[in-house]
Amino acid sequence: MRKLSLIEVSGAEITAGDRRAVDAVLRSGRLAMGPATLSFEKACARAAGVKHGIAVSSGTAGLHALVQAFGIGHGDEVVTTPYSFVASSNCVLFEHAALRFVDIDPVTWNLDARAVAAAVTRKTRALLPVHVFGLPYDHAGISRIARKHGLPVIEDACEALGASWQGRPAGSLGDAAVFAFYPNKQITTGEGGMIVTRHAPVATFCRSVINQGRGNTGFLHHVRLGANYRLDEMSSALGASQMGRLGSILRRREKVATRYAGLLGRIPGVELPVEIPGLTRSWFVYVIRLDPRFDRDAVVRAMERQGVQTRPYFPPIHLQPFYREAFGFRKGMFPVAEAVGRSTMALPFHTLLTEAAQARVAGALRRVLASC
Ligand SMILES: Cc1ncc(COP(=O)(O)O)c(C=O)c1O
Repeated sequence: MRKLSLIEVSGAEITAGDRRAVDAVLRSGRLAMGPATLSFEKACARAAGVKHGIAVSSGTAGLHALVQAFGIGHGDEVVTTPYSFVASSNCVLFEHAALRFVDIDPVTWNLDARAVAAAVTRKTRALLPVHVFGLPYDHAGISRIARKHGLPVIEDACEALGASWQGRPAGSLGDAAVFAFYPNKQITTGEGGMIVTRHAPVATFCRSVINQGRGNTGFLHHVRLGANYRLDEMSSALGASQMGRLGSILRRREKVATRYAGLLGRIPGVELPVEIPGLTRSWFVYVIRLDPRFDRDAVVRAMERQGVQTRPYFPPIHLQPFYREAFGFRKGMFPVAEAVGRSTMALPFHTLLTEAAQARVAGALRRVLASC
């Protein structure tokens, strides 16, 4: 019998134009801190509807720079979600501040604004909401709390380039935001990220802290402690080239998601990604939720045996071994995040996923669930 190839969980679209853009940088001899980075920054700031874009070497680097930009440090608390990728919490720990996790909304899987309101204390220095799986968080609820207490909002938009809340782009909702460009993202630079903000002082600080603490006073003049979190010119050229077709990428990803909804909608025990009026999701991953009668990890393994790669997204952050050991987090502390985290899985999803591959994914899922 012919063995079917593995359907991978993600994949990047690299066009001839992308290759030409990177090649032009290589030929130019200017491999760092040049015009490709500036043009990528402009494109991302424009997409977010804000003035400033600062390219960085990863989403994590961008979040770390913002935690520093808002002066967050020892003795401070940041309110955030445990249902996210670990970097949205680690960035707070890098500066020796404390995490104040709160539980999530059972429908959107984003921060529950009522829980956020209850978690603010005298020590709170910022709110850090995440647009989980590209679905905008409750901006009205979060910004009301931020205004009431005079707190900045650091928007983790790493999964949400192109999303919008009531027509306002992700990246423009908080005081500053970060996009990320790992190869599973809507656009990719290999590794990479982008800080976007409307606040000039935040932008100026970030430009310095990601560039070895330089001011504008010379290459070997360092006005603060900084790191090298810069993005190189090859990656920036790839990013700028991809930004040139962002609209088409987002439309094609939406088409893939719509096809999945048609294929999976009638499989018993499968809950599809939620749609909320006024929120435009940017399709990053396609995450379904299984009825609790299924053992999600067993389903992931059985799907792999059927030639379909899936991922158990997200295991909650507070239950990661490091977090349990360092801070004493335990099961039961954030029951909604834990229940969602036990039952969600990401199916293969990317811009180029074919109808035939999606039909195979749906067939495999139907068979696996019927046998569980
Ligand atoms: C919600 C969230 N925050 C932060 C990051 C970190 O981005 P990077 O992997 O580019 O450091 C990611 C990346 O997947 C993410 O999904």
